[in-house]
Amino acid sequence: MNKKTLLVLAASIYQIPTIATAKRLEYRVITTDDVPSNPGHALSDQSYGVSTIDQQAVLEIARQENIDGIIAPCTDVAVPTSAYVAEQLGLQGVPLECANTVFDKIAFREFLNRHAFPAPKSYPITLNYQPNADLFRHSWIMKPDRSSGSKGIFIVRSLSDFYQYLPETLRFSPTARGILEEFIDGFQGTCEGIVNQGELALTFILDRRTVNPPHVATCGHHLPSALPPQLQEKLLVILKKIWHLLGVTDGLFDCDFVATENEIYILEISPRLGGNSIATLLKKATGFNIVEYSVKQACGEVTHLPTTVNIRPTSVVLLGVEKEGRLSYNQTELEALRQEVWVDSLSIDFAWGELVYPFIHGRNRVGEALIFGNNRNDLDNKVRELKQRLQLEGI
Ligand SMILES: Nc1ncnc2c1ncn2[C@@H]1O[C@H](COP(=O)(O)OP(=O)(O)O)[C@@H](O)[C@H]1O
Ligand SMILES: [Mg+2]
Repeated sequence: MNKKTLLVLAASIYQIPTIATAKRLEYRVITTDDVPSNPGHALSDQSYGVSTIDQQAVLEIARQENIDGIIAPCTDVAVPTSAYVAEQLGLQGVPLECANTVFDKIAFREFLNRHAFPAPKSYPITLNYQPNADLFRHSWIMKPDRSSGSKGIFIVRSLSDFYQYLPETLRFSPTARGILEEFIDGFQGTCEGIVNQGELALTFILDRRTVNPPHVATCGHHLPSALPPQLQEKLLVILKKIWHLLGVTDGLFDCDFVATENEIYILEISPRLGGNSIATLLKKATGFNIVEYSVKQACGEVTHLPTTVNIRPTSVVLLGVEKEGRLSYNQTELEALRQEVWVDSLSIDFAWGELVYPFIHGRNRVGEALIFGNNRNDLDNKVRELKQRLQLEGI
């Protein structure tokens, strides 16, 4: 039995892979969040009902349980708590100041500007903010200051769009603040990586697919990336600099970026495992188990990292519907697709006929598929084929 104790912040379905992996590796697992019905609690050795944003109370649990590591997988709100507890107890973690900077979209834009990284022009906003109408000669994007999964985010093309979406954006902010920033039209990507002794020891660049405007929810990731090599290099140079400036020498990260012809804009960066089934995608495409690495790393264990990885063209497709209604899909095709050699898994989260909502943010997904391609082109075609045959809709 591995005697180490890991505290996992949150216990929803998104944290289950981490909890289950730690259990498999024979760690003692403690979970905490303020939703007792969350399924991860049932898997842990000990669970608490303390909110993941209550830093003092979580520190108390950590002390009481004499933990060896703390982790906040796939949840942004718990990142500062994880950093705080790690700092207080001298465990593996990022500096609290780093967590507070990356956790707040306004603070992170200020950081990028201060260090002269490419960044979209941006303005902090509150309910009485009145933008200049001239701004809307091109597109902007409006977001809550602290949120995740694209909740409350809209692409804004006019002054009337701005006023229409403003209350909804601010509704998702705990401080009723948000940010209005230039929409960068370009190649949307995600980078998942590992920093080891100040170096980018392993990185995976994924192409990110998003739903139709004005929404921006992620609806898929593809590997390998079609981003040109010189832009991939540029991205990695920027990421290394950012982590250095934020004082992070070790750990995992997840980053959203947009690439234009010559430039990389870092949209968001977080010292944690990425959501949207990225870990499963990486495991299937490369064989590398990033969840296992994250658990061991959080407990200060040195693990071997591969120097090269081979990538099998693979995609995770997050399924959703455009209109609110009763879930409908082609049931025969669902079964037929599951038999296809290129479909690794295909799951629907709701029962047939259950009420489902438009896929405008991560929480409204209705299912997921993991599929393989012979090459990138073939993979893109297979994604299209899957969606066409499945005919998912709300009716
Ligand atoms: N300035 C921007 N230009 C273009 N796309 C953007 C911009 N900001 C955000 N996006 C899109 O919106 C998505 C969500 O924004 P992000 O800042 O990552 O918020 P969240 O915390 O909800 O993930 C991004 O992944 C990206 O697709
Ligand atoms: Mg994001």
